[in-house]
Amino acid sequence: MKNIVILVSGGGSNMAAIVRAAQRDNWRAAYGAQVVAVVSNRPDAGGLAFAREQGLAAEAVDHKQFPTREAFEDALGAVLDRHQPALVVLAGFMRILTPSFVARYQGRMLNIHPSLLPAFPGLHTHQRALEAGCRFAGATVHQVTAELDHGPILEQAVVPVLPGDTAETLAARVLTQEHLIYPRAIAALLPRL
Ligand code: GAR
Repeated sequence: MKNIVILVSGGGSNMAAIVRAAQRDNWRAAYGAQVVAVVSNRPDAGGLAFAREQGLAAEAVDHKQFPTREAFEDALGAVLDRHQPALVVLAGFMRILTPSFVARYQGRMLNIHPSLLPAFPGLHTHQRALEAGCRFAGATVHQVTAELDHGPILEQAVVPVLPGDTAETLAARVLTQEHLIYPRAIAALLPRL
């Protein structure tokens, strides 16, 4: 069985979309794959409660409890490896990962970013897209590499920027698309893992 572990920091709506797609499309039968665990760097992340309700392992590795990024990543890696992941999925995971941690999961770690990469890596993507006068915005699913928000692109979705948009209204429009493209990108990758 190909185990999928999802990392979240917040509400976890992308994580929930992936869990629901895995159930709806029976990834177990289709790809021999299953979501086994949700791990958060924030003990209060809403996504953990949803994961527990779904009967998944839900674990927190609180980055604030560790003196260095490396110590945090050692603990995070130990939790991940206990679940023997074929695929690690970053879904609103808001910690920067070191190159050595990324190397550990090379080719089997994905991220979703709320912009049309390579435009607007980093934070505040929607505000920056509005300030730049973009007519279109979107989201990108990509392989994780050592450089933040880079790495081979697997899927993108485009939405229009509408008159009167705020960062919040644009984010909501993009998020709806994220929930479609992230499960689709994972399903396309699973047969190759
Ligand atoms: C999503 O919009 C995701 O693209 C973004 O955080 C949100 C998480 O929402 N990720 C990043 O900004 C990563 N740098 P969710 O917790 O409801 O899935």
